[in-house]
Amino acid sequence: MAGGIVVSRNEMLKAFDETQAGVKGLIDSGVSKIPPIFVRPSNELAQELTYKTANQDDQVQIPIIDLSDFENPDRRKQIVEQVRVASETWGFFQVVNHGIPSNVSDAMIDGVKRFNEMDIEEKRKYYSRDSTRKVRFSSNHDLFTSKTANWRDTLTISSAVQVFKQELPNSCRESTVEYSKHVAVLGNAVMELLSEALGLEPGCLNSMECSKEHRITGHYYPACPEPELTLGTTMHSDIGFITLLLQNHISGLQVLHQDRWLDVEPIPGGLVVNIGDLLQLVSNGKFISSKHRVVANNIGPRISVACPFGNPSLVKSYSPITELTSEENPPRYREVVMGEYFHKFLNTGLDEYLGLDYYKL
Ligand code: OGA
Ligand code: NI
Repeated sequence: MAGGIVVSRNEMLKAFDETQAGVKGLIDSGVSKIPPIFVRPSNELAQELTYKTANQDDQVQIPIIDLSDFENPDRRKQIVEQVRVASETWGFFQVVNHGIPSNVSDAMIDGVKRFNEMDIEEKRKYYSRDSTRKVRFSSNHDLFTSKTANWRDTLTISSAVQVFKQELPNSCRESTVEYSKHVAVLGNAVMELLSEALGLEPGCLNSMECSKEHRITGHYYPACPEPELTLGTTMHSDIGFITLLLQNHISGLQVLHQDRWLDVEPIPGGLVVNIGDLLQLVSNGKFISSKHRVVANNIGPRISVACPFGNPSLVKSYSPITELTSEENPPRYREVVMGEYFHKFLNTGLDEYLGLDYYKL
């Protein structure tokens, strides 16, 4: 090679990974330009202009559903209907009065913030790309497989946090255990509403073990000096059945609806519910798993806690629910075995992962 030192993308990725300090480490070191590994290709940035952004006067917003008194039969009917419409047309809604006390949610956000902002030596103890570890911290789970890195760091905690409580970082131990208990209860309740909204028995999805476990992924999106060149999270749809997402007061999450990006604005006491690919599959396409992303922001940190619900068993398989198919409405997806499903997801960059396209009939 003629003169100069050419550093390959792979070498840059490795060097970034070896800092074990994530994107927060770059900010702490005072960068005023984002490193090339985070810059989206120019064709993608140009394509961005073809997406219309929702016009403020449109007043289009994802539905907000009030869950108060949802055990009351009359209220429940209304709620189930709202859940049905939201799941069929948006794949996204926010819930309020959902039963998770605000101090529990606030403490969860604070815990993720404290973890990310503690001493780097403490954080490094958790830095890992081993997906079998119950608690792991890293930047970009798909760092080495995606085309562009995202401007975010993530703390991932497996389910059953009560069982390995002592392994959780001090900075978020109590808050995670408490939040996990509450989010599990809400996840089951939402699954019952979704079952009814599909015209099935309330216990149907839970008895299929669709909400057998939830992971807790605490995302930390530091302020970005060049937000228009990168993303907080690449466009994707979620792989589980549903995701319950808690966000702090800084916006950034957008959902793609009829070819337009709509902001999912944080609302006080609100939690975002979104339908994942597996629920689209078992509902035979009745409920939609919408694409979404997080834009980078010059203010921060934005913090979110996403809890995807699913089944961790590698031998478990799912197909469209028989009651939801008929001669006129034949199965649209083939059976999916969880082992194969997870393997594909874990070995593909988020920007190239095709979601349900692999399973379409
Ligand atoms: C996710 C996700 C959005 C956010 O974790 O799948 O889409 O706001 N997160 O962090
Ligand atoms: Ni997502």
